[in-house]
Amino acid sequence: MAKKAWSGRFRKSMAKKAEEFSASIDIDKRLYKQDILQSIAYARALQKAKILSQSEAQKIIKGLTAILKGIESKKIKFKKEHEDIHMNIEMLLISKVGDVGKKLHTGRSRNDQVSTDFRMYLKLKIIETVSFITQFQSVLIDKAEENINQLMPGYTHLQRAQPISFGHYLMAYVEMFERDKDRLMHIHKNTDVMPLGSGALSGTMLSIDRKFLAKQLGFSRISQNSLDAVSDRDFVIDYVYAASVIMMHLSRLSEELVLFSSYEFDFIELPEDYCTGSSLMPQKKNPDIAELVRGKVGRVYGQLINLLTIMKSLPLAYNRDMQEDKEAAFDAIDTLKNCLSLYIEMLRKIKVNSERMDKAVRKGFLTATDLAYYLVNKGVAFREAHRIVGEIVAYCEDSNMELEYVSLKQLKKFSDKFTYDVQRVLTAEESVKNKSGIGGTAPERIKEAIKSARANLVNAKA
Ligand code: ARG
Repeated sequence: MAKKAWSGRFRKSMAKKAEEFSASIDIDKRLYKQDILQSIAYARALQKAKILSQSEAQKIIKGLTAILKGIESKKIKFKKEHEDIHMNIEMLLISKVGDVGKKLHTGRSRNDQVSTDFRMYLKLKIIETVSFITQFQSVLIDKAEENINQLMPGYTHLQRAQPISFGHYLMAYVEMFERDKDRLMHIHKNTDVMPLGSGALSGTMLSIDRKFLAKQLGFSRISQNSLDAVSDRDFVIDYVYAASVIMMHLSRLSEELVLFSSYEFDFIELPEDYCTGSSLMPQKKNPDIAELVRGKVGRVYGQLINLLTIMKSLPLAYNRDMQEDKEAAFDAIDTLKNCLSLYIEMLRKIKVNSERMDKAVRKGFLTATDLAYYLVNKGVAFREAHRIVGEIVAYCEDSNMELEYVSLKQLKKFSDKFTYDVQRVLTAEESVKNKSGIGGTAPERIKEAIKSARANLVNAKA
């Protein structure tokens, strides 16, 4: 068994079971690139601090670059007995460049090292998540534009409520995802702080130029308290919280895709290549992808609780419990990425069943509120108008008739304020057109929303 880097004070080697239990290499090997880039920058800082000579630093950097290539070309295999990615790379370096490699860890601890790697990695993942969301928004906006004039029933309590445009419905999700991106960019700012130079917990006694390090590693800020720097995992929790909210948004959409594609609603058709059949019932076409995305929310919420629980009550500073943070975060990162990338393709291909939506929007007295406002415009108090229209709806229900088909003569029996122009407010088209205040479902408002959402997408790219 290979000797541990820290084995000096030990007389016994680690029990195999304990070693296997505590090794994290299978998880944290993902951080290999950040770890190597960090070490290259650190070697330069050590040279600047005169702890390494120029040729020693060069040797180390060359060795690290070769290791990076070896990992990327899959020539290098990691070893469990070296615990984690940091130790594996250090061991590889020593075997490659000899004793000079042993100098690289001077003044650095795995505690500030792992936090630095993780922040570097997460910064990339945040930007990647934002870019996936942007692509998804772009699909939603295109679909919304195609469907500005497609009406559908809007729901509250999952009961038909008022007519809306399907385009307006889709744009609601664009809004949600815009907030998600804002949240992510805020988290990016908090993640963009470099812990390196905090040592194990109390800082470094070497003249390491932390500003120089931050610049090389692309950090905008440097941590200001070494204890906090090595024990803070807020940035991870923040990301997984943001991922949870995104997944929650996706789950609401998923639920609607499942409902709307059901025989009962039949508003949309999901693409066949994103559905599955039944092993028993030959006629079935099941919305499994939408259901799975809905189900995967549980994983991401679970990882959020996992992280919050790992960190709860931990004394300052580093504790090994914290090693569990990476598996939790990586799982949330992967789950979110998979869901978004599937939805980008799937939503692009959904088909709208125009006939069914048109039919649905005309059944269920969806323009009753418009009728009440008609009376309000004629001077009737809203509460009174509400009561009158309620009575009309009851009458319609009894006579199995939609509001649109009630004659003026009949309406006049409920209120003398009704005149010939009432017919206009009874159609779904008119109702939608009238919702022309900012944020409403009127076609011109949706067009504006689409325009400004598109402008945001372009700005996000710039
Ligand atoms: N693999 C460890 C982690 O991810 C690195 C830090 C280990 N530090 C220590 N003192 N054992 O947390």
